[in-house]
Amino acid sequence: MSSIILCGFMGCGKTSVGKRAAGLMDRIFCDLDHYIEEKAGMTVSEIFERQGEAAFRKMETEAAAEVSGMDGMIIATGGGTVLAPRNVDIFHENSGIIVFLEVPVPVLTERLKNDTQRPLLQKPDREKVIAELVEKRYPLYRAAADYTVDGSPSPWIVAKHIALLNL
Ligand code: S3P
Repeated sequence: MSSIILCGFMGCGKTSVGKRAAGLMDRIFCDLDHYIEEKAGMTVSEIFERQGEAAFRKMETEAAAEVSGMDGMIIATGGGTVLAPRNVDIFHENSGIIVFLEVPVPVLTERLKNDTQRPLLQKPDREKVIAELVEKRYPLYRAAADYTVDGSPSPWIVAKHIALLNL
């Protein structure tokens, strides 16, 4: 059975939707950031701080290859994972189906306004940072995705929409 790979911007609900979809579809859930943190023995923020973003991206590709080897999972990626073509190839080579959770900028901004955990957002003028990143990233999420789902509703509703895709 193919794994379902959830992609999209920070705050689009990959983790909260993924957990619920896994429950509804009787699949095992895996959060890629969490997997990386367990393996590295550090949080994502600590990895960025001590080793830099490039080191994190390398760990992300390794993690993508490792979790892709397992069938029938629901995998929540990080917001940057499918921006690297190599990672998209890894998922597709392992028959993963990529689902993009699309959420408009105002909703993302609201969801992310108090975030302290995401290194890329710890800058002044967060709204502008989000809008600029979304502009660059959305074409890449769309290009990577096999399906796009509206990620604006509550996580349960989005999870049900994913379950109804019958993937
Ligand atoms: C990142 C998103 C984060 C995490 C890291 C980098 C990004 O994951 O992987 O902070 O580049 O968008 P979430 O999308 O789960 O927040």
